[in-house]
Amino acid sequence: MTDFPSPRPVEIVPSVLPADFAHLGDACLDLEKAGVDRIQWDVMDGNFVPNLTFGADVIAATRPLVSIPFEAHLMVEEPTWILDAMVDAGCRLLIVHAEACRHLHRTLGHIQELGAAAAVALNPATPVQDVAHVLDLVEMVLVMTVNPGFGGQAYIATMEPKIAELRTLVAEGGHDVDIEVDGGIGPATIAGAAGAGANVLVAGSSLFRDPEGLGHATAELRELAVAAQRS
Ligand code: DX5
Repeated sequence: MTDFPSPRPVEIVPSVLPADFAHLGDACLDLEKAGVDRIQWDVMDGNFVPNLTFGADVIAATRPLVSIPFEAHLMVEEPTWILDAMVDAGCRLLIVHAEACRHLHRTLGHIQELGAAAAVALNPATPVQDVAHVLDLVEMVLVMTVNPGFGGQAYIATMEPKIAELRTLVAEGGHDVDIEVDGGIGPATIAGAAGAGANVLVAGSSLFRDPEGLGHATAELRELAVAAQRS
């Protein structure tokens, strides 16, 4: 029986993917006012995923507007070329995909050498074991609960046992690692993800679609996640 440490602090992290791209600066200001913990930028290269979003210059343009941290979710094939630019743009944490890095251990070490925090993402089909030997290099592991590329997709509930498996692997190794989930996270799904062991929860559509606004959506998701950790 694994002896789990006390639950890690819940963090609600919006993806700006559903935001109005003509007003991304306003979206960041609104999100900070809404009480989110940090902002995730979904950087897509049109190669690793069939979509193309924004690069470092767009992120850098919004950086001075808010004080909350930025993280970059790099859905980029072999992302070494973009790491420096993402750090220079003001991202504190860089998330690379295990599937996109031929030399994952070296890439994560490179992120650390740049002075940023490193994280690794797993697509739904990728086993937890693929990150077993890099947990000492990362601040966080992202378990994708959709196939990457687009917002507004349905949550893949079969990822919950995978989240629990990762939680056990992290605990047994004594690693100080957050578990993040991303994709289809909303009021109906967040408890399953948090109850399985995720403490960093990325939401896009469910935040921006809440008729009561970003503040209500953020508070509701946080409340549901904390309750799930305690149940
Ligand atoms: C997928 C993206 C999305 C986005 C949030 O590549 O990473 O998961 O962040 O999407 P929804 O709208 O599902 O919260």
